[in-house]
Amino acid sequence: MILVTGGAGFIGGNFVLDYLANPKVSGLVNLDKLTYAGNPETLKSVEHDPRYHFIQGDIGNISLVSDLLEKFAITAIVNFAAESHVDRSILGPGEFIQTNVVGTFHLLEAVRAYWEKLPSGPKESFRFLHVSTDEVYGTLAPTDPAFSETNPYEPNSPYSASKAASDHLVRAWHHTYGLPVLTTNCSNNYGPYHFPEKLIPLVILNAINGKNLPIYGDGQQIRDWLYVKDHCSAIRRVLEKGQVGQTYNIGGWNEKTNLEVVRTICQILDSIQPKPHGSYADQITYVKDRPGHDRRYAIDASKIERELGWKPQETFDTGIRKTVEWYLSNTQWTQGVLSGNYQHWIDQQYANKTK
Ligand code: NAD
Ligand code: DAU
Repeated sequence: MILVTGGAGFIGGNFVLDYLANPKVSGLVNLDKLTYAGNPETLKSVEHDPRYHFIQGDIGNISLVSDLLEKFAITAIVNFAAESHVDRSILGPGEFIQTNVVGTFHLLEAVRAYWEKLPSGPKESFRFLHVSTDEVYGTLAPTDPAFSETNPYEPNSPYSASKAASDHLVRAWHHTYGLPVLTTNCSNNYGPYHFPEKLIPLVILNAINGKNLPIYGDGQQIRDWLYVKDHCSAIRRVLEKGQVGQTYNIGGWNEKTNLEVVRTICQILDSIQPKPHGSYADQITYVKDRPGHDRRYAIDASKIERELGWKPQETFDTGIRKTVEWYLSNTQWTQGVLSGNYQHWIDQQYANKTK
């Protein structure tokens, strides 16, 4: 029985669905606070699965986490729970420090107390897998080699600084207390159930709803895109085969400028759902840049490929087409997320950005 935190979010939700798709697994507990980013609708297909247990709560609640660990006899933890959006961290960093730093600290303390009391067999096989990001390494110049696990940490946003801090806590709990931890640092994910504050789902939904497609700055920033199901398979592999105390970079070798990504989405939409006149690319609008915007991220995934035999299944072309098709055919999910407080965020974020 594993404990997943943040399993109602984008990557955590995909992880829960993929994990339970395997009939051999015994079960999974999902602890999620259900912030604006947590969406029970994503998990509708498993809510009556007897192997699935959902608990609404905070990773920072030590007594709740301790009770769950005992009650379900947890054998491993995958920690997805975090505040994850860079633009929100710029407008309001407090929640990022609270969940990503203080929350991870409390989670580690609850887990340490539980793990220390386990009998030797379960104690040895127990794992705490911390899901982190490539953003902790900072930004790359155009000709720099991709980030490897030995790159120094140089975070530039409140979000990446809070994730870097959590990675350091996880590392310290291993070195000081012996907690059997694993850390993964992944590049940008995309795919189903992605909240439309992030570039790819925002552009797909804005395009089909006749709205502007906002490009920050000159649109030449580079991200390294990985289809979310490939990230989930990498996490499962690290959980099964990863060496305790090690970190693994995960990425899809898919470096693209933001403008390339947006143009590709427009081309796919032009071919499968053409507008009466013109192209979706006509909706592209350049807006003010993100403060402190990292220019380029790229992941060197050779360690996880070499040591654990993991490889992504999707190319960017296959993954992005699947993603666009998913957003076109899952209108119940998209209508749900576009209502409520979402519009408030869009107004706050984009109102003063027009150049
Ligand atoms: P998300 O924002 O979609 O989901 C986060 C989830 O965590 C939500 O369900 C939310 O309700 C929950 N949560 C937030 N605070 C909590 C708390 N205090 N206690 C319990 N639950 C809480 O995020 P995501 O994009 O799915 O990212 C998941 C993890 O992967 C994060 O740690 C993020 O840093 C990391 N990551 C994301 C990407 C990416 O491209 N999205 C890439 C690399 C790493
Ligand atoms: O690299 C991994 C990280 O990827 C994760 O750790 C984060 O949780 C995740 O949010 C993502 O961060 P980014 O800042 O790279 O993702 P985002 O989708 O917000 O932006 C992708 C790029 O697109 C970035 O260069 C900013 C740009 N952008 C974004 C938005 C929302 C725009 O040009 N216009 C926009 O409206």
